[in-house]
Amino acid sequence: MLSYRHSFHAGNHADVLKHTVQSLIIESLKEKEKPFLYLDTHAGAGRYQLTSEHAEKTGEYLEGIARIWEQSDIPAELAPYINVIKGINDKSKLRFYPGSPFIAKQLLREQDKLVLTELHSSDYPLLRGEFLRDKQRALVLREDGYQQLKSKLPPATRRGFALIDPPYEMKSDYEAVVRGVHEGHKRFATGTYAIWYPVVLRQQIKRMISQLQSTGIRNILQIELAVRPDSDQRGMTASGMIVINPPWKLEQQMNAVLPWLHKALVPEGTGHTLVDWIVPE
Ligand SMILES: C[S@@+](CC[C@H](N)C(=O)[O-])C[C@H]1O[C@@H](n2cnc3c(N)ncnc32)[C@H](O)[C@@H]1O
Repeated sequence: MLSYRHSFHAGNHADVLKHTVQSLIIESLKEKEKPFLYLDTHAGAGRYQLTSEHAEKTGEYLEGIARIWEQSDIPAELAPYINVIKGINDKSKLRFYPGSPFIAKQLLREQDKLVLTELHSSDYPLLRGEFLRDKQRALVLREDGYQQLKSKLPPATRRGFALIDPPYEMKSDYEAVVRGVHEGHKRFATGTYAIWYPVVLRQQIKRMISQLQSTGIRNILQIELAVRPDSDQRGMTASGMIVINPPWKLEQQMNAVLPWLHKALVPEGTGHTLVDWIVPE
């Protein structure tokens, strides 16, 4: 049974990091005219109301996107992401937050394609509703996301980006992401894959990274933003993105933008940032 609902967490610090990286990858892919596929294996509902009961209950977005929204010196690297958020909000008030499918929908071009999968019985219809008028570009399925890394790859145009963003409510997700990416990479070795991860127990992430290294896949970049030091008692202290075949500019862009993001998200200055190669090219 799926109990995770992203509506409780939308716009938190982990979403800010994830969607910054997602938007930068998409913008880099757009530098070539040739169409590409955007595959979102764990898509969620598509967009979220920050004034909803779920979002208000946790208030996570208040320590996430709300802290970015109020800044006056937002770096240029964040512009594509922030412009999507501006597009669904009034100037004065932050009421809506875009999920990864909505960000992709706004940033992709007419010639690009989207495949989005979501299993939850409440979130799938919401996601499908977002794309009713976008059937030329988007395929929205209530199917297992990991399976798509086999069945939808390689894309016909041999250009693509897969975002793999499971809830990790089941421990098996830590292994399933590695297996899924390995299967995808066997079929489509030149694709870009971005795996989101939470740091709840550091050991779980270390294990996942070492399993990824064992696959023999190369060119793997790790990007992380921690709001607190590692702990085994206090829930998610950090989150990160593991990017296989990142666009060449991504390392430099994240090195430029992460200190700013960290300062804006964590004014008290705890935690850390990281941009490093798990496996070089
Ligand atoms: C972290 S949320 C996704 C958030 C979204 N990617 C975003 O950034 O806006 C994870 C989603 O995966 C869905 N899910 C869980 N297991 C799945 C699976 N095997 N296949 C597809 N979706 C799954 C959950 O219902 C949940 O909505």
